[in-house]
Amino acid sequence: MNDGRSTALRSRRPGRVTYGSAALATVLVLAAPSTLLADPVARAAGHAAARAAPTVIAHRGASSAAPENTLVSDEVARRGGARWIENDVQPSSDGVPYILHDATVDRTTDGTGPIRSLTAARLDELDAGSWFAPAYAGARVPTLAAQLADLRVRGGNLLLEIKGRHSHAEVARIVQDVRAQSMSGRVFVQSFDIPTLRFTRELAPELPIGLLRSTLDADPVGLAEDLSLTAYNVSDAALATRPGLVGDLHEAGVAVNVWTVDSPARWKALDALGVDGIITNRPAELTGWLAGRTPAAATG
Ligand code: G3P
Ligand code: CA
Repeated sequence: MNDGRSTALRSRRPGRVTYGSAALATVLVLAAPSTLLADPVARAAGHAAARAAPTVIAHRGASSAAPENTLVSDEVARRGGARWIENDVQPSSDGVPYILHDATVDRTTDGTGPIRSLTAARLDELDAGSWFAPAYAGARVPTLAAQLADLRVRGGNLLLEIKGRHSHAEVARIVQDVRAQSMSGRVFVQSFDIPTLRFTRELAPELPIGLLRSTLDADPVGLAEDLSLTAYNVSDAALATRPGLVGDLHEAGVAVNVWTVDSPARWKALDALGVDGIITNRPAELTGWLAGRTPAAATG
């Protein structure tokens, strides 16, 4: 697959950024100065001497301090300095995209059952906060539309994980929700599922996409080019088996975002590697740590 974007990505080399794709250039311009989209360009373009800090991406919101994948968790992350929030999306039984991580609502709400078996009306009744702490009683499972509206009004960008295999129609509904609120410039799609990413690319070429990986592919660079990825979003454990992959992907113009990293020791190691984003349950702490650290580029 080559829609012109992979050519554009390959054309990025140190000290020079060129775009063969007007759509990609538009996405990047719309996103600036939001860093997840801008940083991969600056960092992959070899601006090492003035390298920006990795982008802080709040995993399921500020999930160490508030119930994951709720609007209050997103607000805590936002107030803690995170400009990017990661959420998971899955459909209700009647096709409405909701923000939820697990396949069932059991762990994170007062309800039971697979999300795909529950109607939107039922999901709207659930308490998604009490399981975490009484102070959060009454928090809801947000629809994707509600999440996007909240971001649009209150600020921030969305790293949206399409959770599990989605049909073409289900991806189309997600794209419809994003476009309905003119949020394409502030949404970055990621998924472990390659067919789902291909549907996203086909339906919404304006949206940057990232492939999630818990183990490394045999040829990550080749796969990134085949899928026209903007980012390869790899687990910290998997990247530790091949740290040089960051440079290989950057050489190909592909950003690297790493999950889920909560310790200063690993933040320091990943900062030194030059990764583009760090996905963390502790976004406020990572924001503070980055503000206080000595930039890797300045120390050699
Ligand atoms: O963003 C990466 C991470 O969210 C992938 O794993 O299980 O937390 O969705 P998971
Ligand atoms: Ca996720």
